[in-house]
Amino acid sequence: MIRVSIIGSGNVAQHLIVAFNKTTDIELVQVFVRNGAAVAHLINPDKIYNNFNDIIAADLFIVAVTDDAITEVSAAIPFSNELVVHTSGSVSISAIDNKNRQGVFYPLQTLSKSKEVDFKSIPICIETKNEKDFQILEKVAKSISNIVYKINSEQRKALHIAAVFVCNFVNHLYQIGNDICIENDLPFDILKPLIQETANKILTLQPNQAQTGPAKRKDIKTINAHLSFLSDENQKEIYKMLTKSIIDNGKKL
Ligand SMILES: NC(=O)c1ccc[n+]([C@@H]2O[C@H](COP(=O)([O-])OP(=O)(O)OC[C@H]3O[C@@H](n4cnc5c(N)ncnc54)[C@H](OP(=O)(O)O)[C@@H]3O)[C@@H](O)[C@H]2O)c1
Repeated sequence: MIRVSIIGSGNVAQHLIVAFNKTTDIELVQVFVRNGAAVAHLINPDKIYNNFNDIIAADLFIVAVTDDAITEVSAAIPFSNELVVHTSGSVSISAIDNKNRQGVFYPLQTLSKSKEVDFKSIPICIETKNEKDFQILEKVAKSISNIVYKINSEQRKALHIAAVFVCNFVNHLYQIGNDICIENDLPFDILKPLIQETANKILTLQPNQAQTGPAKRKDIKTINAHLSFLSDENQKEIYKMLTKSIIDNGKKL
């Protein structure tokens, strides 16, 4: 059994606690938090600590804290030569203080405390500095997920940017669609089957094969009618930029 400790009590830490609680391959040794109440509903209180001096040995320490705090928190772990990983998509493996063996354990999913997830279907991107540590991390990842990738820091940086495009930007476009619906007395729900089908299509088609709409058809008349309809300058700019990118087929503008 692999002994794992988690540092942090936020979205990722809480989902990891739930996932590790479900597997018999991992012993969750301790959860180190600044605010014990945040995880009290997930784990036995005698495993929750808030003083670094109380941290005991484990095979793996997962530092699931804000990107900016990774270096400071990993440096505060009162051990050396232990395997310590962070969970960030955009931070280099070197951010972990090098007194310990550095690694990354990045779950590629949008995680919110309030929303349950099936961790088995979340890709986990792992990186270590040596093969032995890779094997430990791979075992831990495979105990909670069916999808595990070896991804280095440079690739992860690119992956994180791609994830911002396909998740955060798409979600922002939902927000704009929602605003337009509200302004025109339409229920946003009417768009949900379209949103669902668009996401489903991408499971079997390449993005450029799945694209439809006026920009794809180079239907300038409809595009101009949409631009005249929009009064919000920000929405107009986004519409123009995305339309041009679709017409140029994603190539440089
Ligand atoms: N949420 C996602 O969708 C997601 C997905 C994949 C990866 N990640 C990555 O996972 C990491 C954690 O993200 P999150 O969404 O779980 O963040 P979060 O919900 O904002 O939680 C951040 C945690 O970091 C702790 N923290 C911040 N500064 C600290 C410090 N100086 N010392 C000790 N603890 C500190 C916070 O403690 P307090 O509560 O006491 O402030 C909190 O427990 C980040 O690297 C993020 O990039 C996030």
